Amino acid sequence: MRTIDWNDSKNNIVMIDQTLLPGEYKVIECNTIDSLCEAIKTLRVRGAPALGAAGGFGVALSAFRSNASTLDSLLGDVESASNTIIATRPTAVNLSWGVNRTLKAIEDANNVKEVRSFALDEAKTIANEDVEKNMQLGEHGAALLEDGDTVMTHCNAGRLACVDWGTALGVIRSARAQGKDIKVISCETRPLNQGSRITTWELMEDKIPVTLITDSMSGHVMRKGMVDSVIVGADRITQDAVFNKIGTYTHSIIAKEHNVPFYVAAPVSTFDFERFEDEIEIELRNPEELKFFGKHQIAPLGVNVYNPAFDATPMEYVTAIITENGVFNPPFLLDEVKLRR
Ligand code: MRU
Repeated sequence: MRTIDWNDSKNNIVMIDQTLLPGEYKVIECNTIDSLCEAIKTLRVRGAPALGAAGGFGVALSAFRSNASTLDSLLGDVESASNTIIATRPTAVNLSWGVNRTLKAIEDANNVKEVRSFALDEAKTIANEDVEKNMQLGEHGAALLEDGDTVMTHCNAGRLACVDWGTALGVIRSARAQGKDIKVISCETRPLNQGSRITTWELMEDKIPVTLITDSMSGHVMRKGMVDSVIVGADRITQDAVFNKIGTYTHSIIAKEHNVPFYVAAPVSTFDFERFEDEIEIELRNPEELKFFGKHQIAPLGVNVYNPAFDATPMEYVTAIITENGVFNPPFLLDEVKLRR
């Protein structure tokens, strides 16, 4: 099934619970905005494009769950739920993008029924478009890979970070579909291990060869010539930087030092070119994520912890950005990215 979807028979959101992978594959249901927000905060659903779909479906869910009988009171309920959803995670721009796009779609609704159907139609369109755009992005990116290449990636920018197919892993899937023998090195991605838990799992499901390393091994493998290119996803792309999972910036510096191309694969919905790095909030997560590995304590409970979920990679380290509209080299100009087909 898709990472996140709408269940028409129950009018609720269904999603793969990514916190349980790889040990357990379980599909959960969100019937309320509270349960959706809990799922986003705890990373049951995660990854920028999947959060875009969660935002859209969240607006629809709020419209279906509200008991309001008048248009105005329903719109009030939907607006308040939308603000709650957007506040769950601040860095990935796709979340607010998905919410706002769906809110825009209900502006012309004349009654309660129309709010519900317009919101749901838009949310489903966002989800369907995500898959389409990832496949287009994958085709563009695949042209950058040679038969026999090994690609290093960080975090999970695969089908589980999207509605389906994936961005960084979508490029790899597309290249393999073209018959190229591509292998992957997956960094484990401390502290929540999206690389070791999710990227390796989904690649192995698709029988794509993958080797797991710790984040701190990336310098060693690049120095040894074991990596032909690095491909990562993005949570937000401002005019001057790419925000992605913590550790990405370090890999980009090492890649530049060793002349390894550093590619960012992201749909246009991840661009926030109106803004600059300094204006963006980087999510700080719970210190417990560093003090415990699962249930096992790995640091003194009283230690000070700094746990940013993302970092910013300045554009000078980015070789190219792969989007559904093509591959762009620096300098990255928004008009070109948006308009080129
Ligand atoms: O905290 P997460 O797991 O939501 O972080 C996800 C990432 O950093 C991904 O690399 C990014 O969202 C791109 S997903 C296509």
